[in-house]
Amino acid sequence: MRVAYGGDADVTEADLAGGWLALARSWLQQAIDARLPEPNAIVLGTVDGEGRPATRTVLCKEMRDDGIVFYTNHTSEKGGHLAGRPVASATFPWIGIQRQVTVRGPVTRVSEQETAAYWATRPRGSQLGAWASEQSRPIASRAELERQLAEVTRRFEGGEVPVPPHWGGYLIAAETVEFWQGRNNRLHNRLRITPRDGAVVRLQP
Ligand SMILES: Cc1cc2nc3c(=O)[nH]c(=O)nc-3n(C[C@H](O)[C@H](O)[C@H](O)COP(=O)(O)O)c2cc1C
Repeated sequence: MRVAYGGDADVTEADLAGGWLALARSWLQQAIDARLPEPNAIVLGTVDGEGRPATRTVLCKEMRDDGIVFYTNHTSEKGGHLAGRPVASATFPWIGIQRQVTVRGPVTRVSEQETAAYWATRPRGSQLGAWASEQSRPIASRAELERQLAEVTRRFEGGEVPVPPHWGGYLIAAETVEFWQGRNNRLHNRLRITPRDGAVVRLQP
């Protein structure tokens, strides 16, 4: 269980001279090239009305200047958290290449047009699944879930599956972005950038 880190070149402040996005995209590409499973998966932390945190994995579907975008059900538990406290922290856990990137900031919904454009790229089965599942609500059995899928499959037979009103994208604004790189003797590199003014601080590991 005791892994030695290092071997690749140190990430430095100079790597952030061009902003956070270029570096995050380059690390994502390295995670893809290393064939890590689900390289665009992020562990998403939200907080409930009492300030209690909750985490789950979702897929980052876009990394862009102002932040990162994921898609989900607005009436899910996370959707409820984000409605009450629109802030989040999301970590790309690229453990296989000894790196992680964490984006934190306020959360807003992406436009309906943007959601519709992404929805159109999803396989029909995923579209039907989004209609069939009242995400995060209890259900009596697997059979009941499959009945719900059969019902929506019939409902939309022969036509396009529209975007459900309860489904869409969220943008986590990149208020801060931290790049972590594993190093030997646990002296890891941690660089945190505040994209608003470009300030970079190095944090102790
Ligand atoms: C690899 C992976 C990717 C996932 N991607 C998504 C996603 O993009 N959107 C989503 O709503 N749920 C996704 N899930 C399921 C979520 O982890 C979670 O179970 C679901 O969104 C309900 O979360 P909630 O009850 O906290 O709202 C994914 C799970 C895994 C393991």
